Amino acid sequence: MSFSDKILTWYHKNKRDLPWRDTVDPYKIWLSEIILQQTRVAQGMPYYFKFIEAFPTVEDLAKAEEERVLKLWQGLGYYSRARNLHAAAKMVVDEFKGEFPKTYEGLLKLKGIGDYTASAISSICFNEAQAVVDGNVYRVLSRYFGVATPINSTAGIKYFKSLAQEMLHSGNRRDYNQGIMEFGAMQCTPQNPDCTVCPLANGCMALEKGTVKELPVKIKKSKIKNRFFNYLVPIGYDKGHNKITQLRQRKGRGIWQNLWEFPLLETESEAGLGQIYNHFSDVLEFKGEPQITLYNENAIVHKLSHQHLHTKFG
Ligand code: ADE
Repeated sequence: MSFSDKILTWYHKNKRDLPWRDTVDPYKIWLSEIILQQTRVAQGMPYYFKFIEAFPTVEDLAKAEEERVLKLWQGLGYYSRARNLHAAAKMVVDEFKGEFPKTYEGLLKLKGIGDYTASAISSICFNEAQAVVDGNVYRVLSRYFGVATPINSTAGIKYFKSLAQEMLHSGNRRDYNQGIMEFGAMQCTPQNPDCTVCPLANGCMALEKGTVKELPVKIKKSKIKNRFFNYLVPIGYDKGHNKITQLRQRKGRGIWQNLWEFPLLETESEAGLGQIYNHFSDVLEFKGEPQITLYNENAIVHKLSHQHLHTKFG
């Protein structure tokens, strides 16, 4: 049996029953794929249901207020994906009369749709011969073929895309593409894969050479920026003596554009209470002298892929 036949056979026997697996509606496939770029299946499922319920069609999503889309996305992070989702829905309605493009090339024109998503939608919905390459595919191919070219290098990206394309099943691209990703997620796992029950063990270069744990290779591009956020959590009372606070909407461009947060002072290095006090007593209107104490003396460090946020609340 060929590599692609083995993947397909494994998939038909082992695939998970997922809500987007009983449809070839490009709207639903697109939504599921964008959510799955952000999180794992178990965490993504409730978001998929929430979005489909709130916006059953692409027209409903296009008509929605951005705030509502962002609210439903809340918790997934990387909000530009949600903004692109909304922008692409508007494009489908305004420029394509409500109908999704049916080809890889056409899909690439939509905001937020790159090679991976266009390949996934065009193959799953229209059986187009476009191989998907996600983290799972990199892992399966690099191990099976024993390829140590870094998956995040220009050469690696090009090489793995062409290898994936070469291995694509000639008939059932729809299931093969989902199959290789599912195989990577369930069988050829990042840590401790059980190679004794693997249908691809025979022929796997990494297994033969004992390099399963080393593959795939990824180059560390560690240019992490440290940022220092000082949030004021104002506490006041309304006329009915209810506790109230203040939030502001982030302006300008960036990953948190239009999201709400407490009044913020960003500093070049860790700020002390004095600096925080001086800033907020200047820019905010207080009745009388403000009282500011820190909730946390030691900054809380939140690690994102390219930046570490050192955050204090006062
Ligand atoms: N990961 C992301 N999309 C997937 C899909 N359609 N099938 C399996 N795994 C996936």
